[in-house]
Amino acid sequence: MSDPPAGLFSDDVLSRGPQEIVPGVVHIPAWLSGEQQRWLVKQWSQWGRGPIPPHSPLIHGHPMSVRMTSLGWHWDDTGLKKQAREFGGASPLPVPEWVVRMGRRALSDGLRRSIAPGWPGFEDRELFRWAETYTPDVALINYYDPDASMGMHQDKDEDSAEPVVSLSVGDTALFRVGNPQTRNKPYRDVRLASGDLIIFGGPSRYMFHGVPKIFPGTAPEHSPVARGRFNMTLRMTGRHS
Ligand code: SIN
Ligand code: MN
Repeated sequence: MSDPPAGLFSDDVLSRGPQEIVPGVVHIPAWLSGEQQRWLVKQWSQWGRGPIPPHSPLIHGHPMSVRMTSLGWHWDDTGLKKQAREFGGASPLPVPEWVVRMGRRALSDGLRRSIAPGWPGFEDRELFRWAETYTPDVALINYYDPDASMGMHQDKDEDSAEPVVSLSVGDTALFRVGNPQTRNKPYRDVRLASGDLIIFGGPSRYMFHGVPKIFPGTAPEHSPVARGRFNMTLRMTGRHS
């Protein structure tokens, strides 16, 4: 007799369905089809052969455990840049139009499940029109080895308060949904599996969040990711160049 792998039959996995985790954070499991996931992984690998190769950004001089590439803007721990100093001043590839459309669709699907007070547009109920204008101009793509993680942090390098749209493919990750005030409790842990979408905006746009753990070997059979996990976040910088 053996116990199932961690998380395989946990309560949150057994009752997976779209839900608003806390106001402003919407999780939609299996938003991407298998074919869409395969296509995305191919694109991510291809983008990684572009001007911004996968690299481990330094935080206070220490390399992160994830490997990052990006479109639109380059990220380092001092902010978002149009040119990557580490890569000879290279400019990231632009965010393709189909990714922008996907971001809009993700957002409107998320909003349908969350009309939370505090989301921009809540008062005038113009949420869906607002989703139509969402134009992410930066995509950060992170690859996590099975033993990689990401500490609690806020996404606050953007000048815009538009939501963050996040897509995951590969092994399941433990995603920690914190609060906007402190990097500590209260927080809620959510398992993000292959194909899952999570959006954070409105009252949770500046929440602390992190990825304390990847569950190795949990990607579905025939996953395009043999080992580890990819995550792509879309954001709007609110800047012009
Ligand atoms: C991030 O916080 O930028 C990435 C989150 C994730 O990998 O799910
Ligand atoms: Mn983040």
